[in-house]
Amino acid sequence: MVMTAVLLFVAACGKGEPDKTAKEAATAGQAGRTFTTESLFSGVRLFHEHCAQCHGPEAQGHPDWQNPKVAAAPPLNGTGNVWKRDKQGMIAIIKNGVMRNGEPVMPAWKGRLSDREIEDIIGWYQALWPPEVYERWRKANASETAPSG
Ligand code: HEC
Repeated sequence: MVMTAVLLFVAACGKGEPDKTAKEAATAGQAGRTFTTESLFSGVRLFHEHCAQCHGPEAQGHPDWQNPKVAAAPPLNGTGNVWKRDKQGMIAIIKNGVMRNGEPVMPAWKGRLSDREIEDIIGWYQALWPPEVYERWRKANASETAPSG
């Protein structure tokens, strides 16, 4: 919970003593997760620029995301189902977007975000996941490790 609060602060503010906050985030005892200051801040900046209008500024998702009648963006902060996807699956949906009834409900980012930028965004929202969610994901995707670099 403390971990989440720290990271939500990063998410919400992204300013003010950035180095200190990112270091706290990086050392808050998240087994298997390693972050660089650069990748976290790149991730939060890109997320706010491109994803937050649908997925929410703290990746909390749209309030109606569980309503099957509307195509509302789900949470990516560990309270939804995105942990069920492996890394490649996340990259694929971000690159290709999602069509429903011939309409894009999530835009495709292929050609608009680099592989590195997509990795940074995923690394940032995974940093928001509670440890047990990350652990569940890691076990389900044993070959996957924290983003390198
Ligand atoms: C126009 C609104 C919109 C924008 C902008 C948007 N998304 Fe989405 N996203 C959605 C919707 C809606 C879904 C659910 C699609 C479905 O019904 O399968 C989704 C699904 C996802 C999923 C799968 C979630 C899951 O639970 O499996 C990921 C990952 C994701 N988006 C990442 C991103 C990222 C990263 C960005 C920014 C680069 C982004 N999205 C921008 C609307 C959006």
